[in-house]
Amino acid sequence: MRTSTALQTGVVLLVAVAAAAQDAGAPTYSEHVAPMLQQKCGSCHRPDGIGPMSLLSYANARRHAFTIKSRVEQRVMPPWHLDRSVGIQDYKNDISLTDGEIAAIVRWVDAGAPEGDPSKLPPPVEWPTGGEWTLADEMGRPPDLVVTSAPYTVKPNAQDQWWTPSAEFEGLTEPRWVKASEFKPAYPHGKKVVHHGHAQLMQDGPDGPRVMRALGRYGVGKPGDIFPEDIGMLIRPGGVVSWNLHYYPIDVEVPDDVVEVGLWFYPKGKDPSLETQGEVRFTADQGGDMPWAGDIVIPPNSFKAQQGIHVLDRPALMHSFRPHMHMRGKEQSVEAIYPDGTREVLGKVDRYSHIWQISYLFADHAKPLLPKGTMLLVTSLWDNTAANPLNLDPDQWVVFGQRGVDEMSHIWLGMTYLTDGQYEEMAAARRRAEPAGGGQ
Ligand code: HEC
Repeated sequence: MRTSTALQTGVVLLVAVAAAAQDAGAPTYSEHVAPMLQQKCGSCHRPDGIGPMSLLSYANARRHAFTIKSRVEQRVMPPWHLDRSVGIQDYKNDISLTDGEIAAIVRWVDAGAPEGDPSKLPPPVEWPTGGEWTLADEMGRPPDLVVTSAPYTVKPNAQDQWWTPSAEFEGLTEPRWVKASEFKPAYPHGKKVVHHGHAQLMQDGPDGPRVMRALGRYGVGKPGDIFPEDIGMLIRPGGVVSWNLHYYPIDVEVPDDVVEVGLWFYPKGKDPSLETQGEVRFTADQGGDMPWAGDIVIPPNSFKAQQGIHVLDRPALMHSFRPHMHMRGKEQSVEAIYPDGTREVLGKVDRYSHIWQISYLFADHAKPLLPKGTMLLVTSLWDNTAANPLNLDPDQWVVFGQRGVDEMSHIWLGMTYLTDGQYEEMAAARRRAEPAGGGQ
């Protein structure tokens, strides 16, 4: 295998070198490719990043040139799995490459990955080290409050492990509005073993009933949340933080692992006018309110789709969506059916990959504003065939469960519920912002 791969690579290199001679005007690393790799790949593909290799030097970029070409051509990298043919296309955190950028990378590789003139290299970026808060830069300071999980020792070379400690919530003396939160596994080992997790705050609401607030939700590719302007999550002193941490072991023991959640508050006296629930779970499978959602059964070597429908009993502003399935997940979408019967796909991923938990953050002007009575239709599609590269065994029947080899089917929607008055005001503001005579 190795020899034939080496041979193939050799042949391809020769072809590439031949091509290089014919493409004198091809993009060069220093001038055209390095800036793209820095901006669109460097946050993960750097010595301390979560990517498997650094792509920040010419030698590294050239060594990986052929895999870079294939991953960017297939739009597998950077990880951004949105269906580009349907649904809202404006996102705050869009890290995908443009068609022009992809064409430039492909042409560069086909031309033999020329270096060009190193004096044209972009100035180097100062990346945060692996242990720093990734939102600190944008927020302008370290978090205002840090909540820490009880330590857990992750056994090496074992099955998935779950750790669900609870602790009293301390550190607040008065209600505060959360502007941003980040869930940070420990550096360096925690980052490798924490697959996903959340920290939920359970506390009494002002009128009595218990309320649950997600302090931090994490998956690879999703470290935290910054709420849109004028939207915050209100938390009060007291209550209990319950952690749900899913560990996936590596080959060494990781002793006493702790996870931190950092919270940034709105300044006192600058309260936002809208209170958000943060990410709310909507399901495509039935029984989402039960501890074990019941009805996922995927036969061997087959595709399966499932839909769930949810009627909004209040108007809402949606700021994000984050698909969640496991290894057989292929597509997931959320569609709105408005009270007047019109339908609109809000967001859809068509290349879901269980490795990633990406939260797609709608651009401010594109955030769906949903009237009361809107139906949200969640659709999930699984691929339990051999064509799915993450499928370990297409001959298995697959059912609901927590392990990566079992399935799930929910989507996390960033929701801010509105009063009728707030909805009317926002709808009027949007109508005013539309060009005269416009419409959708
Ligand atoms: C958000 C983090 C992130 C960003 C941004 C990102 N990558 Fe990756 N990349 C990863 C991770 C993690 C893997 C390994 C898991 C996987 O393949 O999904 C990976 C895998 C790869 C691989 C396959 C490596 C192999 O040997 O199998 C290539 C090639 C690659 N990335 C290139 C790129 C390029 C080029 C960009 C920018 C245009 C980019 N990546 C942006 C995190 C990232």
